[in-house]
Amino acid sequence: MEILASNTPFKEWKGDGLAIGLFEDAVELTGELAALDEQVGGVLKELIAEEEFKGKAGSSIFTRLSGDKSVRKLMVVGLGKPDALKLDSLRRAAASVARLAKKQKCKTLAIDLPVWNNNPEATAQAIAEGIQLALYQDTRFKSENEDKGPQVETVHLLRLSGQEAAIARANQIASGVILARELVAAPANAVTPITMAETAQAIASDHDLQLEILEKEDCEKLGMGAFLGVAQASELPPKFIHLTYKPQGTPRRKLAIIGKGLTFDSGGLNIKGAGSGIETMKIDMGGAAATLGAAKAIGQLKPDVEVHFISAVTENMISGRAMHPGDVLKASNGKTIEVNNTDAEGRLTLADALVFAEKLGVEAIVDLATLTGACLIALGDDIGGLFSPDDTVAKQLETASETAGEKLWRLPMEEKYFEGLKSGIADMKNTGPRAGGSITAALFLKQFVKETPWAHLDIAGPVWTDKENGYNGSGATGFGVRTLVNWVMS
Ligand code: BES
Ligand code: MG
Ligand code: ZN
Repeated sequence: MEILASNTPFKEWKGDGLAIGLFEDAVELTGELAALDEQVGGVLKELIAEEEFKGKAGSSIFTRLSGDKSVRKLMVVGLGKPDALKLDSLRRAAASVARLAKKQKCKTLAIDLPVWNNNPEATAQAIAEGIQLALYQDTRFKSENEDKGPQVETVHLLRLSGQEAAIARANQIASGVILARELVAAPANAVTPITMAETAQAIASDHDLQLEILEKEDCEKLGMGAFLGVAQASELPPKFIHLTYKPQGTPRRKLAIIGKGLTFDSGGLNIKGAGSGIETMKIDMGGAAATLGAAKAIGQLKPDVEVHFISAVTENMISGRAMHPGDVLKASNGKTIEVNNTDAEGRLTLADALVFAEKLGVEAIVDLATLTGACLIALGDDIGGLFSPDDTVAKQLETASETAGEKLWRLPMEEKYFEGLKSGIADMKNTGPRAGGSITAALFLKQFVKETPWAHLDIAGPVWTDKENGYNGSGATGFGVRTLVNWVMS
């Protein structure tokens, strides 16, 4: 599918589907729209009245046009209240138009939406992202593609001529989001630590990044006892992935991104019981998926920033070799951990990844992890938890996520709660009381960062959606990729 910037006025555009946006409670047709209505014999006005269309965000209507047949389907999408228009409103409006056009079998489509905040670059990028992400379909695990209908082939973004670069950026970012979605959606018998390493290799060769894979023995040499404790029951070898993007010339900043990479989380000997959603635990590498997705996007966008993409990838399994509940592990910074619950495994893998990242001498570290069910309970499946002792990084991420249309909510790192992780035998336990479970998880991670500004994103909720939502189809969302890209580029 191709997205083109166009300066054809909608009255002159010819093709299968034409979509316009209307604000809430402002559906009277004036100016250009009145002229368009006249051109189509008053059909637009009739359609709006008949459907009682009010312009609410997320709503859309359409009609078949007859007559000169220069346009077959006319579509109208609601934009909500004008003062509430966000960049993400346009991303979502474009997505609903794209889906409707597909359903109405439009091969060619033109979209005319308002420019957000006098910023045609950001507008074109958001619209193109919405289209790409809404039209993506994952048929990898179907023996036959059931969708035999015509596909949207060309989309013209009206009023956005000259925005080719923004559209190219959107395509690059969407390729990263789609990679993350594919990694998360693929089951644990398809995406394993080995295939994750292969994916990292493909990104490295396609986009010219450096790749270092630490094998189990390398991790042993570095003393990564926490990561290896989690990995020890699996039949599959753990892979510690370290991808590096280096710009030409001196980098403006040096950053690290870490993703939790559990290709399957059975819980270990504290095995996940009935109703725990164990069958969904292929998603437990959502942080690593976002990290690799961001690497793929950054490798194409080529900012003047050095970025390290890190994931300690393994499965959390059971076998005669499994860690026992109560085992004491030693992480690569020398700290000891009493594993009072083997299902709190993500933080163990992240501990060694954080120590590794800090040794690289980066200016800031962000980790993303499907870390706690508690965060999903607290914030639901639309919002990720943001934890950081550093207000600057927290602010940067809040700004990045707003532009990305990926919601984050900052939660407190209440030091007092660390008492819940006190251990009689080791430096700390890996699990505290049920109450405040996402906060103690974040406080645990903090023990493995000395002085580098750091933030932790708990993405257990938004990594997956059960129902179609805006540009996200149902299933894996690729959450985090766009926020990470914006953060790196800022
Ligand atoms: N991977 C899970 C967290 C999770 C739960 C992600 C639901 C997505 C959806 C994590 O490893 C886990 O099992 N966490 C435990 C922690 C507990 C043992 C302290 C949890 O949340 O129940
Ligand atoms: Mg677990
Ligand atoms: Zn987990």
